Amino acid sequence: MQGWDVSPADLDVMTEPAAVGSIADALGLSEEATEWVIDGDARRLECTTAMGPVDIYVAVSGGLTYEVVAAESIPILIESGRVSARVGSLEHVRDMRAAVGRSGLPTEATAPGAKRGVPRVVAIDGPAGAGKSTVSRAVANRLRLTYLNTGAMYRCVTLALLERKADTDDPRVIEEIARTIEIDFRDGRVLLGDRDVSDAIRAEDVTEATPHIAAYPEVRKAMIERQRDLFSAGSYVAEGRDTGTVVAPNAPLKVYLTASPEERARRRSLETGGGVPEVHAALVVRDQLDSTRKLGALRIAEDAVVVDTTERSIDDVADEIAELARERGIA
Ligand code: C5P
Repeated sequence: MQGWDVSPADLDVMTEPAAVGSIADALGLSEEATEWVIDGDARRLECTTAMGPVDIYVAVSGGLTYEVVAAESIPILIESGRVSARVGSLEHVRDMRAAVGRSGLPTEATAPGAKRGVPRVVAIDGPAGAGKSTVSRAVANRLRLTYLNTGAMYRCVTLALLERKADTDDPRVIEEIARTIEIDFRDGRVLLGDRDVSDAIRAEDVTEATPHIAAYPEVRKAMIERQRDLFSAGSYVAEGRDTGTVVAPNAPLKVYLTASPEERARRRSLETGGGVPEVHAALVVRDQLDSTRKLGALRIAEDAVVVDTTERSIDDVADEIAELARERGIA
């Protein structure tokens, strides 16, 4: 649950009919100050408060169903001329408003972590095998944010290049592919055009070639633009190498996830089936390439929280990061 400051003129509250009375009480409303309005399928109590109108919806139109927010979960506080309502999420407010024919977000709604120009992003960077994907997915689930695997985007560029047998030394060809391929994420799968490439991008030749392709400035620029476009329109837990240092340097929470090289090699070998010594050697090469390239090199952001996942469970680490994100008002 998240507290949002919303100006009274913009405040819509969705609740169950039984809770309306206690909300009206919390707002200090008399019966004369409220009016039930039936608007298509929508039913709302329009309230006139000292600070402006507040609409309490008990039903919305559009055939949509919404999370019903129980009375105790939406304490409404009247403080210094503002109303603070606890609702599910900003998306929830947006959905509620869309359902009643209003577009966009409330003009004055601000979440603590959604200040103007500040992306609602948890940036999780770190070397291969640190547990980024598993942990990031778990954090996204806990916070109900979208999970973004930026490594998969670089892998898609590499796969497209290899499949087209393109000249991997020609920056113009590489840039053209990086700019034009369609990369999409759906139901935990990675799509290149309309093809599911979730497994293909994990093939050994793709894994090996990706750090080389990802070092091209043209590729980085194209991927960074795509990632920033996504961040400007949604709320993400994004994992990669440079999400906190380059893509979203003003992300409210940056985590640098790491683990001992032995542990990282052990995890990767379980995933890929290779022997630990060989996987370890390949990891060292990839770490070296990723941390020494000119642009977007893997490094710890100055304001990152470093989390070592060696000998820690996924749940434990995900809980810690989710809690940090809540403290910083991201979710
Ligand atoms: O995260 P994953 O291991 O799938 O990433 C594959 C490769 O993609 C990395 O080794 C790195 O070279 C590149 N990458 C990158 N920048 C990111 C994410 C991944 O250069 N933000």
